[in-house]
Amino acid sequence: MKKPDYHILMCKSFRLAGEAQGVCDKKGASDLVQYISDECTDRGLDATVSTTGCLNVCTKGPVMVVHPNNLWYGGVESEEIVDTILDALEEGESADEYLISE
Ligand code: FES
Repeated sequence: MKKPDYHILMCKSFRLAGEAQGVCDKKGASDLVQYISDECTDRGLDATVSTTGCLNVCTKGPVMVVHPNNLWYGGVESEEIVDTILDALEEGESADEYLISE
């Protein structure tokens, strides 16, 4: 198989067992997943978008991670913020104002 250029993870707060309980899902991460996927398609980004269980940085949620860049973003609560992050990705940069990793 051909690997995608990017793998974008959106935390959906699932615990190892049971229902979603964390901050990311409560703050609307679920509503953004389809938007991220659609935006990647519209922009021609070769990306797979996946949802994840809790990434253990709940206080920074909603959390979105971009690999292989290993960029961890927090406070991803709106389509506008997703746009900012994807704009930076297209430029080969990071949206530093939303980074929670160094
Ligand atoms: S619920 Fe998203 S990091 Fe914990």
